[in-house]
Amino acid sequence: MKLCVALDMSSKRECLQLAGELVDFSDKIWLKVGLRAYLRDGAGFIEELKKLGNFKIFLDLKLYDIPNTMADAAEEIAKLGVDMINMHASSGKRAMTTVMERLDRLGSRPLVLAVSALTSFDQVEFSAVYEQNLSDAVRKFGVMSYEAGLDGMVCSAFESRLIKDATSANFITLCPGVRPFGESAGDQKRVVDLGVAREAGADFIVVGRPIYQAQNPREICERILGQI
Ligand code: C5P
Repeated sequence: MKLCVALDMSSKRECLQLAGELVDFSDKIWLKVGLRAYLRDGAGFIEELKKLGNFKIFLDLKLYDIPNTMADAAEEIAKLGVDMINMHASSGKRAMTTVMERLDRLGSRPLVLAVSALTSFDQVEFSAVYEQNLSDAVRKFGVMSYEAGLDGMVCSAFESRLIKDATSANFITLCPGVRPFGESAGDQKRVVDLGVAREAGADFIVVGRPIYQAQNPREICERILGQI
């Protein structure tokens, strides 16, 4: 299981400071750059993070559009030299297949994941949007993404096993909504601790607020790395 730290803070300075504090672990840690940081700090920010250490970068822009527009966007993102990207599985199999065909034409491509159901959704909120049971929908999204040639899914740890059983043990699961030591859930509805994430077979855990809002983020990362 690998740790991916979400850089969702309110300024570039804070994000770079946290990444700087974690440089000693940069061989083991992934950094997740989301919409907030990417819109504010742009591609130059990714370059700066890469120069700091050996961090792998997950650019979490969650594409959702018509197939050709998604493939165009994915190609531009891949050219940034990031290590992992994602799109919504609900954009459909044709859109995901079109993206993968485009990326496969490049010399090398990042890992590509599909977002299943946001971890901020509970069953009621999910059904209000998708009009179906969350587990059934996640299983369907998993199979669809696997058949479209993606590398894995972003999902809650509660659905990690279900997705692997429906696809392959090698199909990556990356699980946000992790509260390593029982910290506050915030807006997340389906949260788990480190033990549950491990038992669920999560390949990656994404941790944001429990790290960057901590008094000593480096110490929290060290504790997490010690346990995984
Ligand atoms: O602060 P916290 O640990 O809740 O951050 C979780 C991160 O993972 C956020 O950056 C959020 O956008 C992202 N994420 C998520 N649920 C998903 C996909 C991504 O929480 N399904």
